[in-house]
Amino acid sequence: MSVIFSGIQPSGTLTIGNYLGAMKHFTELQEENECYFCVVNQHAITVPQEKKALKTNTKSLAALYLASGIDPEKSTLFIQSEVAAHAQLGWMLQCVSYIGELERMTQFKDKSSGKEAVSAGLLTYPPLMAADILLYGTEIVPVGDDQKQHIELTRNLAERFNRKYNDIFVMPEPRIPKVGARIMSLQDPTRKMSKSDENKNAFISMLDEPNTIIKKIKRAVTDSDGIVRFDKENKPALSNLLTIYSLCSGKSIEEIEGMYEGKGYGDFKAELGEVVAETLRPIQERYNNLINSEELDNILDHGAEKANRRANKMLAKAERAMGLERRKR
Ligand code: TYM
Repeated sequence: MSVIFSGIQPSGTLTIGNYLGAMKHFTELQEENECYFCVVNQHAITVPQEKKALKTNTKSLAALYLASGIDPEKSTLFIQSEVAAHAQLGWMLQCVSYIGELERMTQFKDKSSGKEAVSAGLLTYPPLMAADILLYGTEIVPVGDDQKQHIELTRNLAERFNRKYNDIFVMPEPRIPKVGARIMSLQDPTRKMSKSDENKNAFISMLDEPNTIIKKIKRAVTDSDGIVRFDKENKPALSNLLTIYSLCSGKSIEEIEGMYEGKGYGDFKAELGEVVAETLRPIQERYNNLINSEELDNILDHGAEKANRRANKMLAKAERAMGLERRKR
């Protein structure tokens, strides 16, 4: 049994990239591990958020976690801002981070480039993420490919803290799926599929209606040779669609290539649309039952309680190690 932690930002409705790269794997892990899943709303405010939308997206993401199969009896599901220890340890870890290493993070460079006003929070995003992970004695962090660098930094900060103050933090390992760790945009296969993409045709949201899904896949860019074949180098768009097909249907890429031999992209795309819609249908049904229920609030209240209990223990250890406590607790 290992301790697992992962988080998702409520910065828009999740895409099938978030689902296939991360969320789908959470449900498998909860069977045999101690799992913590978090709605990281404090990370979301590192870039401007509209207050009403943030509130809606926070609850919606919590409902999606549950609808995708997170079982509150097995996992702890909570909202980051309801467990103060995250921000508290986050601050302490900022004080062991170097500005240089934070400025070198790819996500910071991407999100700050060309912007006039960049929040300090965008720079100190990674120590807050390190706090999320380290507070629970996390051993495994299931994430998509784009979070690898953040986990590497988390390990560096943990190691630095342990060496300087006291050996209290567990070294976490990323768990990145072999297939689906980087689902690409439907409109530009050189870019990651992202929920904040301005072009709505670039991503499929987990709450898109079947017709919208089918339309978006029909509009997805392909290439001109008309052969359904996986070749990441030369056919990146088709390879991305094949990856999505395989993950949603459970069929191997070879099997799917065989099914469409001698057929054009039209058939392939139409059926892929159906497969994706069918994958999301039961999740959307459960989501609709949960989103306005009292049950959702009760689960989140209980999750915050459990997470607070656990996180405060590690926070106390870290404060003791740094000399921040006045009396022994
Ligand atoms: P976020 O909210 O951007 O994404 C949530 C999860 O989805 C994965 N993901 C993808 N996987 C495959 N293909 C894609 N196109 C794709 N887009 C996103 C991400 O890798 C991630 O696993 N910094 C994190 C949130 C976070 C966190 C944490 C994660 C905060 N604290 C602690 C783990 C542990 C983020 O921005 O994820």
